[in-house]
Amino acid sequence: MEIHTETSKKLFQEAQQYLVGGVASSLHKAEHEEYPIYASHGKGSRIWDVDGNEYIDYMGSFGPSLLGFSHTELNKAVCEQIERGTHFALPTESVNQLSKRLVEIIPCAEVVGYQSSGTEANLVNFRLARAFTGKSKIIKFEGHYHGWADELSISVKPLSLKSMGPRNKPWKCLESAGQLESSSDEIIVLPWNDIEILEKTIKRHKHEIAAVITEPVMYNAEPIKPLPGYLEAMRQLTKDNDILLIFDEVITGFRVALGGAQELYGVTPDLVTFAKAFAGGYPIAGVAGSREILQSGVHPAGTFNANPLCVAAAIATLDIIGRPGTYENMQRITDRIKDGVNFLASRYRVNLWCDSQVSIWQLSFGIDGPMREYRDNFKVDKKTYLDFYKRCLDRGVRLHSGRGRFYISTAHTDKDVDKTLQVFEDVFKEMFNNHA
Ligand SMILES: Cc1ncc(COP(=O)(O)O)c(C=O)c1O
Repeated sequence: MEIHTETSKKLFQEAQQYLVGGVASSLHKAEHEEYPIYASHGKGSRIWDVDGNEYIDYMGSFGPSLLGFSHTELNKAVCEQIERGTHFALPTESVNQLSKRLVEIIPCAEVVGYQSSGTEANLVNFRLARAFTGKSKIIKFEGHYHGWADELSISVKPLSLKSMGPRNKPWKCLESAGQLESSSDEIIVLPWNDIEILEKTIKRHKHEIAAVITEPVMYNAEPIKPLPGYLEAMRQLTKDNDILLIFDEVITGFRVALGGAQELYGVTPDLVTFAKAFAGGYPIAGVAGSREILQSGVHPAGTFNANPLCVAAAIATLDIIGRPGTYENMQRITDRIKDGVNFLASRYRVNLWCDSQVSIWQLSFGIDGPMREYRDNFKVDKKTYLDFYKRCLDRGVRLHSGRGRFYISTAHTDKDVDKTLQVFEDVFKEMFNNHA
């Protein structure tokens, strides 16, 4: 089966003349793709490309589209703000409303602060941790992504086990050309989900360590959930040693529960970073924590911080996702996908791991159980996944172009699941029929 995407191909050829790499974000085109599909418009769970092809979308705009595309109520809130003006370099009453709401929702939030992207918000949290503790080192974990800035971008996506060094003393891998060698000087890198290694490191360096930053669920790379008790133990260890715990909830925030992973797991960090799903697709991010920590003399600047357009979008998004049944329904939808995929896996005898967590689900070929840490990623059969991805795209199901992590929105329906599972069955038949 082949879909026609000539217009996308032409647009990409044109873009390459004027736009570096042909795309505005390195993530808009996967390395293995000759050209990306160009979006025309979206509605609900669906997007249409410039050649008129329709797709059920599981990319969720990298996470932000928690309400699906072009949500009527969200559009209305944003349009009303456009009429009143989009940016004044003055506070608005709406910022008070939003801040109050966030403090009610997020367990660790006594006060909040705003930025425009997750990268910026994590930089603010690093600065806050250093200002509050008077210490400089930060522990981060292999495979966890906290943004593209120099100091955040260490050991995010090492390409081989060999390049990572020994597990008990990992090397610090830089991620980009042009990144300062010294950007990792104050960073300690550890494997995730291993409380003993964390404890030993903290014992040795506690007088230098300002904070531990973690994604509470490791949703970058192939997703990995925390082992039972791991987040709790991390909380206790950091508390006992005057080290701040930062949860980077840029992915989990508002997606796994209204109050994020800290609500779901019942573990309260000192600081949280949130972005992505927060405003249903509009660029706003933030940090939250205790008044004492946030008032450590750090004054984050930012031209577009809490701009009224994004604030209006965030208030509308929180109103909508706060309605009864929202998270239960998303969990039901992703459970249906998980159960359907697992049924197909046993029917076609395919070795895979599929799991779900509220509005997020995952599918990794080549493994039959959950992974523990980033180093397990190398066991995943990426080649089979990319083949699967391409065949699904050709049939109108858009998965992630590079890894097995997928988002749904409040707009995804049982009909979408039926169609998706039918497409999966067709593709499994084609790829693995000899095993059926
Ligand atoms: C966990 C996590 N933290 C931080 C970021 C960076 O956020 P942004 O792309 O808004 O700068 C991302 C982006 O994907 C992320 O997944």
